[in-house]
Amino acid sequence: MIDPLGCMPRDMTNTLKSPTQTIAVNAGAAEIAARCLKAGGLVAFPTETVYGLGADASNAEAVARLYRAKGRPSFNPLIAHVENLESASRIAELDVTARRLADAFWPGPLTLVLPRAPRCQVADLATAGLNTIAVRVPAHPVARDILRAFGGPVVAPSANLSGHVSPTTAAHVDGDLSGRIDLIVDGGPVTVGVESTIIGCFDTPVLLRPGGIPREDIERLLGRKLRAMPSEATPEGAAPLAPGMLTSHYAPHTPVRLAANTLRPGEALLAFGPDLLTGANPDTTLNLSERGDLVEAAARLFSYLRALDAKGATTIAVMPVPDHGLGEAINDRLHRAAAPYDAQQ
Ligand code: TXA
Ligand code: MG
Repeated sequence: MIDPLGCMPRDMTNTLKSPTQTIAVNAGAAEIAARCLKAGGLVAFPTETVYGLGADASNAEAVARLYRAKGRPSFNPLIAHVENLESASRIAELDVTARRLADAFWPGPLTLVLPRAPRCQVADLATAGLNTIAVRVPAHPVARDILRAFGGPVVAPSANLSGHVSPTTAAHVDGDLSGRIDLIVDGGPVTVGVESTIIGCFDTPVLLRPGGIPREDIERLLGRKLRAMPSEATPEGAAPLAPGMLTSHYAPHTPVRLAANTLRPGEALLAFGPDLLTGANPDTTLNLSERGDLVEAAARLFSYLRALDAKGATTIAVMPVPDHGLGEAINDRLHRAAAPYDAQQ
C-alpha cells in the first residue's frame, strides 16, 4: 500500500491484504492526494456528482492499474478532470459551441467529448485509443484543491467496482475498493449524486449521457436541440459512441493476425512474454511485456499498435495474450483491431 507521504503505489499482488486508508479533508489532504497521484497511486476523492477514482492521466501504468482495481471488463474511455478551461485547452480543442458550454457550466457536472489536442499528454489507454477526449472541470472544492495541487489532468471514473452503483460517500468507496486502491479522501456525501451529463461536441452536439445538468438547460443555452444519443447503451449506462465508430478506431490500417505462433515474411510482431517468435526483427517488433505482466501490457497496447501500424508491414502478427485479469480487455481490443481483417485470413 502507498504510504500517504507518497512513495510507491500499492502492489496489486497484495490486493485485499490491507485496507485502504481514508483521510478526512483537512489542511494537508489535497497535497497528500496529489503526492500519491504523482507516485502513480489510485486516489478516490469526492466530486459534486459521485466519488471518482483518480489516476495520473499521463501515466499509462497507473491507468491500467485503475481499470484493474475497478474490475472493468473493458477499457471504456475515461474522463480527464482538469482545474479550469485553460488546462482543458491544453489537452482538447474547444470550438465555439464547446466554449459556450464550458463558460456556462464549468466548473460543474458537464463532460465535453472533444477532439484531442495535438500536444495532449493523456495516455492512449485512458482514451481507449480514440482521437477524442472527454474533459470535465468539477465544482467540488476538494476535487478542485486536489487538481490544483497535482497540476495536471486526472482521469477518474466513478469509484465503484464495475457493475456496482456509483458511490456517493467515502464509505461506499471503501466498501467496494478497500484494499484495491491507495487512498480515499473523505469529503462527506456528494451533492449531485448522478454522474455528469456528457455532450459530444461533434458537427451537431450529441447527448451521450444524461446526467447532472438537465438537457433543457443545455438546449436553452445553445438555442437548439441536442441530437439523441446513439441507441445502443453500454452497461455503464452511457453510449460512448456508435459502436461502429468505436470499432473502427481500434483498428489499425495494417491487417492484424491474432494468436500467431510463427512469423511470416514481411510481418511486424506484437510480442508478449520473454520468448519472441523465430525470425523476429528488432526494427519491427514491440513487446507488450517481456515479463508477461498484463498491467504493463495494457498500458502499452494502444501506443504499440499505433507504432507498429506505422512500420509499413504486410500484417501485424500478435502473439497470444492470456485471457485473465486485464488480458480479457486486451484481447477484446485485439479482436476489435483484427475484426475487419478476419475474413481475409
Ligand atoms: O460525474 C462523472 O462524470 C463521474 C465523476 C467521477 O467525474 N465520472 C464518471 O466516469 O462517470 P465514468 O468513467 O464512470 O464514465 C465516463 C463515461 C463512459 O461512459 C465513457 O464511455 C464516456 O464517459 N466517455 C469517455 N471518453 C469518451 C469519448 N472520447 N467519447 C465518448 N464517450 C466517452
Ligand atoms: Mg461509472
